[in-house]
Order: sequence, then structure tokens, then C-alpha cells
Amino acid sequence: MKLLIINGPNINMLGIREKGIYGEESYESLLSYCRSICEKKGIEVSFFQSNHEGDIVDRIQEAYGSTDAIVINPAAYTHTSVAILDALKAVNIPCCEVHLSNIYEREEFRHHSYISLAAEKTFYGEGFKGYEKAILYLFEKLSGKQEG
Ligand code: DQA
Repeated sequence: MKLLIINGPNINMLGIREKGIYGEESYESLLSYCRSICEKKGIEVSFFQSNHEGDIVDRIQEAYGSTDAIVINPAAYTHTSVAILDALKAVNIPCCEVHLSNIYEREEFRHHSYISLAAEKTFYGEGFKGYEKAILYLFEKLSGKQEG
């Protein structure tokens, strides 16, 4: 299984930005965390992080035909980006959405996600663990161990 993990704007600032919300751990440690889960399951993983909406759209389009599943934390674009939603719908690759924080307990503008309309599941408020749950959900789905 080939998995693409996409992180949106400011996720590269983990460990520096708003530690009370996003924790002390760096973006690099998030990658190591995801890599070790994928290694255990024999998942071929690649990562993409960008602060630019169009670059994220381009990367999703590139995934067409070469990627089995996508985990995405679109960060602030969650709440604004019809373009990322449309790209995910266009490629039609099984996708899960992740948020480190609980977006539903934060400012009202964070309560709405465009991306949820393309995601099979959304994991939020569990920090790095949300990525693990998203990876394992997609792994089990694509291994045929789970219905739906
Ligand atoms: C986030 C939540 C978003 O509202 C915010 O803009 C982010 C990160 C999260 O992981 O909790 O940058 O997606």
C-alpha cells in the first residue's frame, strides 16, 4: 500500500507554534512517528508539507494513479479551501482528515471543515495519535479487513 501524508500551512512549525495547543514535539518527530507505524505495517509512505494551497492541490493531483490512500491535515485550509476539497474529490483516493487539536472546541470559524466532505473519517483532538488512527483505518480498509 502506498500512502501519502499531507500537512498544510504551519504544521512545519510544530514544537514552536502555540505549544499549549499543538504540543512540544516537532514536525520531524511527527514524521518519525508516522514512519514507524507505516514500517510495522509494510506501508510505503511519503510526506508532503506546504504552506501554499495550490502546491497542495498539485500534490493531490500528482497522487492520482500512484497512491492508494491519503492522510491529510489541511491545517488552516480546512476551513477555507474548496480547491483542496475538489482536488480530493477529483482523484477519488480514499482519504482521512486529521487535526491535532479539537477544532470543535476552538473558535467558531474552525468548526466547519470543507475537507470533511471528501474524507471518509476525521480524527481530531488526539495529537499525533490521530495520524496513527487514520493510517490504521486506511490500512485496514485497503487490506479488506474492514467494511465500508
Ligand atoms: C489544525 C487545526 C486548524 O484549525 C489550524 O488552522 C491548524 C492545525 C490542527 O491540526 O489542529 O493549523 O489543523
